[in-house]
Amino acid sequence: MELPTLWEEAPSSHDLPENQVQVWQATLPRTEEEAAPFLPLLSADEAERAGRFLVDRARAAFVGARGTLRLLLGRYLGVPPLALRFCYSAAGKPALEGQDLCFNLSHSQGLALYAFSRRLSVGIDVERLRPEVADVQIARRFFSTREVAALELVEANHRTEAFFTCWTRKEAYLKARGEGLSLGLDSFAVSLGEPAALVHSDQGTDECRRWRLCALHPRPGYVGALCAPGGDWDLRCFHR
Ligand SMILES: CC(C)(COP(=O)(O)OP(=O)(O)OC[C@H]1O[C@@H](n2cnc3c(N)ncnc32)[C@H](O)[C@@H]1OP(=O)(O)O)[C@@H](O)C(=O)NCCC(=O)NCCS
Repeated sequence: MELPTLWEEAPSSHDLPENQVQVWQATLPRTEEEAAPFLPLLSADEAERAGRFLVDRARAAFVGARGTLRLLLGRYLGVPPLALRFCYSAAGKPALEGQDLCFNLSHSQGLALYAFSRRLSVGIDVERLRPEVADVQIARRFFSTREVAALELVEANHRTEAFFTCWTRKEAYLKARGEGLSLGLDSFAVSLGEPAALVHSDQGTDECRRWRLCALHPRPGYVGALCAPGGDWDLRCFHR
């Protein structure tokens, strides 16, 4: 049985050993006022992107999420947050040029999750549990046939959690690969229960063995998932 994630208080120093993936959770600002301390940490292109959000709360979340990312990366690397330069893959995955520090982030309704590793391509996803979204019709649009069949077997009172468990595992895998939705959502399948796993890939069983998925339980009302290449690494999770 998979153990629930243990969320530790932030460590005094930011060390990231080779054989570790570290996950952080942070509460995001909801208003312009709450987001204000993060704004000076953003680059000009990020500030410009923030300015294009039409909804205040979405803008505050973006500013807080990027600002927190820069604070965390800055501490790992021992540099000021604004000194960091991101580059982007063709599908939009941000990375640090010329660094072995890999990262990924996700945010959903007031909460952000971050994953960091040395050289392991990480993907992370978080979703707030929203019963109005967790619908079999929506599952048929985004999930594989195998996943829809598994979801239909779940008792009605556990279906919202199973839906978002599936969703976050799929997203975490996609985000670890970094190619976005160009990899067909029905070309692979994840487990909905324990253990978290990639259980099918049209690319074959080696692809399933190549990746490790971990379930994350950041706080009540949210589920998350982390994906990274399999191997001998430990997971540690922190509160910011
Ligand atoms: C863009 C995408 C990576 C995730 O988007 P999302 O779930 O809306 O947003 P999240 O909060 O989880 O992640 C956004 C972050 O992922 C990162 N990201 C962007 N493109 C990425 C990519 N191709 N690969 C990995 N990470 C990426 C960025 O840091 C982004 O944060 P930003 O807003 O600060 O730039 C992509 O997978 C997508 O378009 N998903 C659409 C939703 C969908 O259809 N999902 C099907 C699930 S079954």
